Amino acid sequence: MTTQVNTTINGNPVQFHCEPSDTMLKVLRDNLHLTGTKEGCGSGDCGACSIIFDGRLVCSCLLLAVEAQDKSLETVEGMASAAALHPLQQSFLQHGALQCGICTPGLLIAAEALLRKNPRPTETEVRFWISGNLCRCTGYDKIVRAILDTSRQMSQSGLPDKTGLQP
Ligand code: FES
Ligand code: FES
Repeated sequence: MTTQVNTTINGNPVQFHCEPSDTMLKVLRDNLHLTGTKEGCGSGDCGACSIIFDGRLVCSCLLLAVEAQDKSLETVEGMASAAALHPLQQSFLQHGALQCGICTPGLLIAAEALLRKNPRPTETEVRFWISGNLCRCTGYDKIVRAILDTSRQMSQSGLPDKTGLQP
């Protein structure tokens, strides 16, 4: 029997139906067609499915969709505004911090969660924070440089949070 869930995704009210056993990852991708969130392992080990759930970084493959009732979700689709990419997205492009791109949405969301919590992280803090996001292509250095560079740019220019969401 399906359950109706009312939630907020990227600032917009969203209603969906799901089975009690459906994961949030499955509903995002299959029901809501928000396919930016990727599935790697399906077991909480790779970080490809990372989203921000009521302000906390979580693996959507470990979250039941019914838990989204009356909650606020943020996915990679909410990062860019109509006018511009999010500074993290710009920086990932400038630093060539992606190859196949499967890990990229999860890393962008993880980096966004980090910079809200700690706007000027050290390299060690960045590496520790993204240790749950596996990348098979880049070797991580370009990703780390992109995150640190975004942090520097945001602190110098006071760039707004393009998601429009509260830290
Ligand atoms: S797909 Fe969720 S952590 Fe890998
Ligand atoms: S760019 Fe391919 S897994 Fe990270």
